[in-house]
Amino acid sequence: MNQPVTRASVYAFYTDALQRGRNTAENLQAATSERFNTLLESITEATPRTALDLGYGAGTYTIALARAGFDVVAVDQIPCDPLLRRLDGAGDWAHRIEPRQCLAEDFTIDENFGVLVAKDVLHYLARPSVEALLTSAVAHARGENYHYLEVFTAITRRSADGQLLRIEGEASYSPESFRRRIQRIYQGWDLTLLWSKHAEQDSRTGLNCFEAIRATVIAANQAA
Ligand SMILES: C[S@@+](CC[C@H](N)C(=O)[O-])C[C@H]1O[C@@H](n2cnc3c(N)ncnc32)[C@H](O)[C@@H]1O
Repeated sequence: MNQPVTRASVYAFYTDALQRGRNTAENLQAATSERFNTLLESITEATPRTALDLGYGAGTYTIALARAGFDVVAVDQIPCDPLLRRLDGAGDWAHRIEPRQCLAEDFTIDENFGVLVAKDVLHYLARPSVEALLTSAVAHARGENYHYLEVFTAITRRSADGQLLRIEGEASYSPESFRRRIQRIYQGWDLTLLWSKHAEQDSRTGLNCFEAIRATVIAANQAA
């Protein structure tokens, strides 16, 4: 049977890892992906220079967006000080970043963000929250907007002693249920959906502690 993991322990895990600048099995300190870099380089002046990064973690995607000239609202459940420390003494672009300590599901999207990034975070939310967030981002999109999402589906988690784990309230999408919802939410947008297998190892046991199919969504609103 799946053992429940509380949301409080997910909060404690990320707060500790990010306060200490610790890397984790998921590679929290990783650079931005090639797919994201290619997307960012392709964005023209037709896209509003505002961005939202949901679940920014160490802030790597937030920083890439700010360096590219976007004013970024960076949302994460963890305290803002690890990101603020990272920005301290950085270039002028650092002033374009507004960190907010807030649950993604409590963040109201009521403005037009030219770029929305949500990488490796939406699977933690309940399905209605994921869908409400994306739906309101789509409803407020004006001009050439881009959404870059990486979302884990078909997740299997195991404790060090091999017990199956699940996080309370998490979306638990199958690839098919996720694909259907994304196609419905992004009707009229150019949609690219890519799938890849993903696994993370427990450094103590060498065994897989997390396996999933990662969906990468690149949605472009060219309608303007
Ligand atoms: C796997 S990390 C991803 C960090 C970053 N997006 C990246 O890919 O480098 C997940 C992040 O999501 C945050 N998170 C998880 N659930 C959240 C929620 N409900 N609301 C806001 N942030 C959340 C965690 O605190 C953590 O910083």
